[in-house]
Amino acid sequence: VNIAINVPQAEERLAVALDHDVPIVVPAAGSPKRFSQGIKDAGRVLCHVIPSPRLAKKCEDAGVDCVVAEGYEAGGHISHDELTMVVLVPLVREAVKIPIIAAGGAIDGRGLAAALALGADGLQMGTRFVAAEESNAHPTFQKLIMESTTGGMAYGRLEMMARGLPTPAVQHLIKLDRTGASPEEIDKARGLGRAAEAVLEGNVERGIFPSGLSAALIGDIKPVARIIEETIAEYFEITERMSRLEDS
Ligand SMILES: Cc1cc2nc3c(=O)[nH]c(=O)nc-3n(C[C@H](O)[C@H](O)[C@H](O)COP(=O)(O)O)c2cc1C
Repeated sequence: VNIAINVPQAEERLAVALDHDVPIVVPAAGSPKRFSQGIKDAGRVLCHVIPSPRLAKKCEDAGVDCVVAEGYEAGGHISHDELTMVVLVPLVREAVKIPIIAAGGAIDGRGLAAALALGADGLQMGTRFVAAEESNAHPTFQKLIMESTTGGMAYGRLEMMARGLPTPAVQHLIKLDRTGASPEEIDKARGLGRAAEAVLEGNVERGIFPSGLSAALIGDIKPVARIIEETIAEYFEITERMSRLEDS
């Protein structure tokens, strides 16, 4: 379970996760120190989302079991470090010994092969699963992902930077970034509940649809099991093809 630790309900959410035998807890958006001891004492695997080798090392030193190295291509909140997966993962690999789960921009076996080649031990996909049959994302959100040719775009550069589909609300926020608006103006434009209006209600005019650059690669909606099976099958096809390159 992923828990944003910069929200007031963080403690309550963590308590529910620990009460329900959740085996892996992934705090995000804040220092790992605050909750790490409680999660470790409960015998759970503690993972943490990081955007830089510096924070990965900090996590390892704090006793975190594994890190999600999330690149700048990723959907949702992103870091001002702006390190894309192809640069971030090798840097994190050099910085820490704990397992690394790569994230950002991957939707299939090609992404998995790339992540493992870069030094990761696993892969996390976000936007791909928004466009899964089982997802509770509004059908409009799924349609926007399927139709997207640019993927999500970065906005909110002065404070909580994030990546979302370039619908009117995000385009307005990008314009505010470019015209040097104040953090207060950006905060106001962002408003409260815009992501829920998008994700759950499909409100294209007002909503903010969190999405990675990877939306540009997604053209269909399929069941989760098929996404995973096809990803693994394609990964083996790619590695097999690459192993043959040596003979040619
Ligand atoms: C709709 C959406 C909601 C997300 N919410 C969270 C979140 O609450 N916490 C978090 O750590 N990451 C969140 N993410 C990021 C994903 O966990 C994942 O790291 C990211 O989507 C990877 O990039 P990709 O979208 O290109 O696959 C979200 C991503 C999307 C698309």
